[in-house]
Amino acid sequence: MSKIIIANWKGHPAIEAEAVDLARASDFSGMVICPPKQFLKTVSRVLKNAVLGAQDYAPDIYGLGCRYVIIGHSDRRRLGDTNALVAEKMACAVSDGLTPILCVGETAEQRACGKTESVITEQLRIGLSKIQTLVRGEGKGEIFVAYEPVWAISVEPGASPDTAFHAAARIAFLKKQVLQYSSWKWEMGNGKFLYGGSITSANAHSFLTPIDIDGLLVGAASVQPIEIQKIWQLTQHPENNH
Ligand code: PGA
Repeated sequence: MSKIIIANWKGHPAIEAEAVDLARASDFSGMVICPPKQFLKTVSRVLKNAVLGAQDYAPDIYGLGCRYVIIGHSDRRRLGDTNALVAEKMACAVSDGLTPILCVGETAEQRACGKTESVITEQLRIGLSKIQTLVRGEGKGEIFVAYEPVWAISVEPGASPDTAFHAAARIAFLKKQVLQYSSWKWEMGNGKFLYGGSITSANAHSFLTPIDIDGLLVGAASVQPIEIQKIWQLTQHPENNH
């Protein structure tokens, strides 16, 4: 199974012509490109191999060409998205036929207090709680979960990536939890589990190697064409595909 890369452009680039250039430079199969909302339509016309994603749920994104959507990113949680709101967005995304990418992750303070497992379990449990079935909508019936420790996201002061070993252990933990907390039947084919936080072309290989990590959610490095191309190339290596 080849591994997937989600490119979260966040607020970049500033102008449409740059968004077109960046989309062309990142247009590989196995990539999901999540541009700022104002560029969704334009980028959807450019992509031939990559698939379009949105950075947050909105009722119009499927019609704009999105097939994936990031939900519960720490940027949104900081702006007020509660676990309950995340759950609503997850359910709407599934019934629209989108594949939602549910982000979970603990802050530096929660980590320091030893609360990582309880925080990510709660985010996962509530985030999935309003999804009744995966067969509604026209989607492929998939849900992705991204483990993104907040302290590892590159814009956080003093951020550094998790270790691949630790990230894989957290993801293995989340896989067990998901079986417990989904009311519908979760089958391995329904889900992918990703890591995100300070991924670069220099460290991506170590995160792509563990069998439990199905792909990466990449922020800052995804708006640098050479970086994102190198990261994508790593997913093509047979030893990274289990
Ligand atoms: P980063 O961002 O790769 O710049 O750390 C990841 C994210 O915020 O999704």
